[in-house]
Formats: sequence, structure tokens, C-alpha cells
Amino acid sequence: MSLRAIRTELGLKMTQPVSDESMATLGAQLGLHGIDRRKFMQYSATITAMLALPPAFAPQVAAALTAVDKPTLVWLNFQDCAGNSEALLRARDPDVATIILDLLSVDYMEVVMTASGHQAEAAKDAAVARGGHIVVVEGSIPLKDDGIYCAIGGKSAVQIIGEATKGAAAVLAIGTCATYGGLPAAKPNPTGAVGVEGLVNGVPVINIPTCPANADNITAVIAHYLTFKTLPPVDDIGRPLFAFGDRIHDNCPRRGHFDAGQFALEFGDEGHREGWCLYKLGCKGPSTFANCPSQQYNGHTNWPIGVGAPCVGCSEPDFWDTMTPIYDRLPRIAGMDASLTADRVGTLAVTALATGLVVHGASKISSHKRAAAGHAAKQTQE
Ligand code: SF4
Ligand code: F3S
Repeated sequence: MSLRAIRTELGLKMTQPVSDESMATLGAQLGLHGIDRRKFMQYSATITAMLALPPAFAPQVAAALTAVDKPTLVWLNFQDCAGNSEALLRARDPDVATIILDLLSVDYMEVVMTASGHQAEAAKDAAVARGGHIVVVEGSIPLKDDGIYCAIGGKSAVQIIGEATKGAAAVLAIGTCATYGGLPAAKPNPTGAVGVEGLVNGVPVINIPTCPANADNITAVIAHYLTFKTLPPVDDIGRPLFAFGDRIHDNCPRRGHFDAGQFALEFGDEGHREGWCLYKLGCKGPSTFANCPSQQYNGHTNWPIGVGAPCVGCSEPDFWDTMTPIYDRLPRIAGMDASLTADRVGTLAVTALATGLVVHGASKISSHKRAAAGHAAKQTQE
């Protein structure tokens, strides 16, 4: 079943009905989408830019995506809220995500598939037996008490992962639960929940966190894999650098207010209404690495900070334990001078203007950006 068929079944808007046979390659689909070559090259350029590749790679991406055979996807749900499935299935139509995802043959996805019970298990087994498939994991995996807290078809999540990843080409852990355990792993972690990476042998795994994972990031990883037959470069906790290499604080449109010492102090106060910095309302943007400011959510409509909600740091491991309470500010600003607090920022901004220094210059971190502060939230607690 293609994503297109699934979305049609859900009653989501599609451009026009097509048969699976007619969608064997992306090239065959372009006309059906009403997309001409020029438009497709624009899409390819968009993906290339997202992957932080030089523009010269765009033709290579376009050529690879046009010719690629329909890859099989086996989508496993464990301890999760299905928010990642929701985010992906509701990727705006028509857009890059739709075009790339329609290329996939989704042979097993519990959340939406028509088959159930033995039929569903048989579909999964058949897809795995063919090999070369992509396994997507959503949700954390319980290890405690022999994994009894999440079992499907009489098998524990650990068993299912072991079987489903045999012969797979790649594993995509999507959402913060599948990557780092997420909310189920928050202390006291009653089920012994973990992310998928340590449970897979011999198959490359990539972590695509945030809660939910951004459909654009999932799409770009798949596009990279289909184009180059490898997963994109990752940081030291397995996240693609193109999406998680930059700190939210460094790309936030409210950064000017931070540097000027202009903070919202209460929800609905004048500063909040004026779009000032949310640091004092608990924003964890200074400790969080993700491309939320540029990609945003819901078809690039908006993102947490854009609607006036502080970032809760959902792209970082253990954020439920290390970045809460959600609306409490960090004791100090990660990646900056240890003595720098939000109360001192305004003063420093004035001094910086007078001396020609720029406050945020002090916070610049190198290309391994998140390695230096990936666990900055923990530092802030110390
Ligand atoms: Fe943006 Fe949050 Fe940084 Fe303020 S603290 S500039 S709202 S990321
Ligand atoms: Fe999560 Fe913060 Fe982005 S809360 S979705 S990492 S803005």
C-alpha cells in the first residue's frame, strides 16, 4: 500500500487517484501529480538545500529520485502516541514530502493498514523476507520484565525488531521515544524503555527525534538514502547533522530580543504579545539542536516558539528529566559564559553595543555544535 493509498483511505486530500502499478518510479508519478520537470527540479533543489548539500547536487538528487524503484517500508509502532504517523500522513499535499513518500510501498503500518491479526503479520513477514526494506520505528521499546509491556502478535517489541530488521537496508528511529526513550523513559521509567539504536545489529540506524519528528526531516533522510544509497552524516547521538547541527537559539527570530534583554515574563503580558524572547518563560532553545526555526511544522505554518510557546527541548535525550519543569527557565544559559544569566543579558547587550562586541558572538559554537552542548541541559542542572 502506498502512502497515497493510505491517505486516500483516511480521507485526506489527494491530487488524483492513481494505481500502485503506475507509481513504480517517481518519474512515472510526476505527470500524475501534475508536476512538470521544472517544478520537480525545484523540489529537488529544496531537498538538496535541506540536506545542506551544495546546489550542484540538485540534478543528481533529481536523477536518482526519478529512476529509483519503489522501496518497501515496514513501519513498527511500540510505546508511543502515534504522533509521528499523524505528522507524516498529514504532510501537506502536494509537496516534497508527499512526492517522496508516495514513492514508498508501505507494506506494514499498524496505525492505518486494513489487514489485522495474522493477515497483518503475514504482510510484514513477506516484506521482510524480500529484504532490502527500510524499517521505521516509532515509540520506545520496553526491556523490563522480558519486554512484557509491549507485545504484538505474542512477540515482544525486542523480538519484533530483531526479526523485522533482518536483511533491512536501514532503520529510521523517528520521534524522541524511538530515538532516546522519550516520555516512557522518564524517571522512574517503569517499563525500562529505551530507543531502538542499541537493539539493532548490522543495519545502519539513524535517529530523527523531536516530538513529533518533522515530516520534512524524515523525507530528506529517505531522499538522501535513495540518492546516495547511504544515510546522511550524523552527530554523536545519531542525528542527521543537516537537521540537528544548529542550535535553535542561534536561528530563533526572537534572538534579537534576547540579546537586547527583552523578555516576556508572563503569558499574555506586553512582552509576550510583542513577540519578545521566551527564555524567562522556560524556553530551552539555548540547549536544543534542531531545524525547527527553518522547517517549522504543519506545512511550514508555524512552530512552538512562533506561536509563543517556549521550546521544551524535545529533540534532546532525556528532555523530560533534564529540561523540566517546562515553564521554568534554565539556571544559566548553555554554551555561554557560566556566569551569564538571563538577568545579565540586557546589561551585557548595552555594554556590547558600546564596545562593539556582540553578545551572541560569545555563544558561537563550532561545527560539532551539538556535541558541545547536546547534553547542555544536564550541565545546566549541575
Ligand atoms: Fe528564541 Fe528561546 Fe533563544 Fe529566546 S531563549 S531567543 S525564544 S530560542
Ligand atoms: Fe521540540 Fe523545541 Fe522544536 S519543543 S519541536 S525542539 S522548537
